[in-house]
Amino acid sequence: MKINANINKVKTSATLEINEKSKFLEKKGKQIYKFGLGQSPFPVPKNIVTELKKNSHQKDYLNVSGLEDLRVAVSKYHSKKNKFNYLENNVMIGPGSKELIFQTQLVLNSDLLLPAPSWVSYEPQAKILNKKTIWIQTYKKNKWHLTGNDLEKICKKSKKNKLLILNSPNNPSGTSNEYLKQIAKIAKKYKVIIIADEIYAELDFSGSYKSITHYYPEGTIISSGLSKWCGAGGWRIGTMIFPQNLSYIKDAIRIVASETFTSVSAPIQFAAIKAYSKNHQNYLNKSRKILKFISEYIFSEFTSNSIECVQPDGGFYMLCSFSKIKKIKQYKFKNSQEMCKTILSETGFAMLPGSDFGFKKNKLISRIAFVDFDGSKALKEFSSVKKFNNNTVMKNIFPNIFNGVNSLLNWLKIKT
Ligand SMILES: Cc1ncc(COP(=O)(O)O)c(C=O)c1O
Repeated sequence: MKINANINKVKTSATLEINEKSKFLEKKGKQIYKFGLGQSPFPVPKNIVTELKKNSHQKDYLNVSGLEDLRVAVSKYHSKKNKFNYLENNVMIGPGSKELIFQTQLVLNSDLLLPAPSWVSYEPQAKILNKKTIWIQTYKKNKWHLTGNDLEKICKKSKKNKLLILNSPNNPSGTSNEYLKQIAKIAKKYKVIIIADEIYAELDFSGSYKSITHYYPEGTIISSGLSKWCGAGGWRIGTMIFPQNLSYIKDAIRIVASETFTSVSAPIQFAAIKAYSKNHQNYLNKSRKILKFISEYIFSEFTSNSIECVQPDGGFYMLCSFSKIKKIKQYKFKNSQEMCKTILSETGFAMLPGSDFGFKKNKLISRIAFVDFDGSKALKEFSSVKKFNNNTVMKNIFPNIFNGVNSLLNWLKIKT
């Protein structure tokens, strides 16, 4: 029997592929610095883990939309953060926001608008569904984010229904979108529905929560969850919340969910209530400070060695362009994938090629995720560091980041 042609258009997620290759090299004894997979290094807060243990006996299938108390907690949380009155009946709990984004794409008869660069999975999801993706090029001067003008140019061209995914703070750039107000105005004018992927919103280094819902709540679906700010990626729980006028989309997703994943694991949902209802500011402040410190260290090391980057505003990613580096020019790489593979095998520094995020293949750009460190140790030790010497802190608390960066920089400079 043949495989569905839509699936043949898609390869295994690039993020997972680099992870597997890194593990393979590691098994062969090579030191690998894992700047590929974007996984939170921090442990899940203790009170949430305790709640999970307490609820391990929960064994029943739950409501397809999610446990009611959890939906109440999620709606309260987002009503405050997103400054709009959300109802618990318009919350959908799923096995990761990735699945919920997929199901939204599935139920909507629309083209997909994606800023280039964008997170690796949005476009493959569209391909699986035989949905047309329209890429909108963004620019370094705009910190790799969409502007109102960029959106309007595309909206003028076609009358088809449009679903736009906006992600801020962003994966792959780590930067926050400063054009939310103007995008909202254009989206409203052309009736574009937006998925605001806010999975990194709590990791904005400034501690502030900036959302397109502050300007266009009626046309925005918020996608989020516990994977990034709470370190619970492997728990597989994500959330989506809809304004009342878009509740028909949630109803359609509910039907699909009832015929596919049924409901998210019961103990995880009970534990998640704690994540949404308790105050985790101390944990979050520490996480943000740590991530900001590392991002500034790498930014400074890279840019002073001719790797061009834009300083991240949140999360744990950064885009790096290697096109000005002499050694890279000597290699005459045909594309960013070839460059990343060579750098991985020569230096052990694993990162993802920019082409996986929608950059043209020949742009020698990569994405790094600066998460290769012991998050528990960092939470305990970082805030008590008194005399601040960046190199000492890096060596002691973040040795793999320090050694990885140095391995890469040494290779770029010394060996020819
Ligand atoms: C931008 C973005 N959105 C969504 C996800 C999916 O998160 P999850 O399915 O774990 O909720 C990720 C994970 O890497 C991501 O980087």
